[in-house]
Amino acid sequence: MARTRRPLIAGNWKMNGLRTDALALAAGIAKGLKQAGWTDRDLLVCPPATLVMAVMEAVGGSGVLVGGQDCHAKASGAHTGDIAAEMLRDLGAAFVIVGHSERRTDHGETDAIVRAKAEAAWRAGLLPIVCIGETLAEREAGNTFSVLARQLKGSVPAGATAARLVVAYEPVWAIGTGKTPTTAEVADAHAHIRKELAGMMAEASQVRLLYGGSVKGSNAAELMAAGDVDGALVGGASLKVDEFLAIAKAV
Ligand code: 13P
Repeated sequence: MARTRRPLIAGNWKMNGLRTDALALAAGIAKGLKQAGWTDRDLLVCPPATLVMAVMEAVGGSGVLVGGQDCHAKASGAHTGDIAAEMLRDLGAAFVIVGHSERRTDHGETDAIVRAKAEAAWRAGLLPIVCIGETLAEREAGNTFSVLARQLKGSVPAGATAARLVVAYEPVWAIGTGKTPTTAEVADAHAHIRKELAGMMAEASQVRLLYGGSVKGSNAAELMAAGDVDGALVGGASLKVDEFLAIAKAV
């Protein structure tokens, strides 16, 4: 099946990685991309902010893209411990993940906060990956589609274009659990997301939609073949060079 949207395989390293291991991981992925010679897909790694600069150096001119895992909505100011989108951009980052379910849960991030962060990403020249996804209770109550619609409407800023937005569908119950939705469930959710986006913006058909939640080398081909899936947002498996490259290959 020919793809009309350029696939994106993104690794979210979360709060993992000290310099030595992280740089070896980044260099391994860069080497793998060079060896494979892929020019038809994007590979992105999102290390902890402390490592963005060193990872930028480790991936060199390989074409591997680097992103942050979160940013503050403001460009600067009295926000102890926070990181501005401009700071990530200053280090060479091209992307930033916003609204990951772990941020929504651990830090009480609301849709409005996520939306402000996505706007901050634009302001700084970063491409935001806006994360949405239902909890198990929401799925079991039959509310998956309404939750996704509410999160999209609340989290995606006005003025979104296909070049300025990536959406990641990450069912909360699939993150780090080894459980995944069926291919049909992923396709249904993605079709619904695209339909909702079509009511919000002109270029919805061109927006890249990633699936995330327990993606690994062995299930990537099946998940990536689901309709409207344009790549993956990978947690645990992105910490292993071979696994991450296997996922990239499967797309
Ligand atoms: P896992 O791949 O470890 O399930 O994590 C997914 C995720 O949260 C990526 O952002």
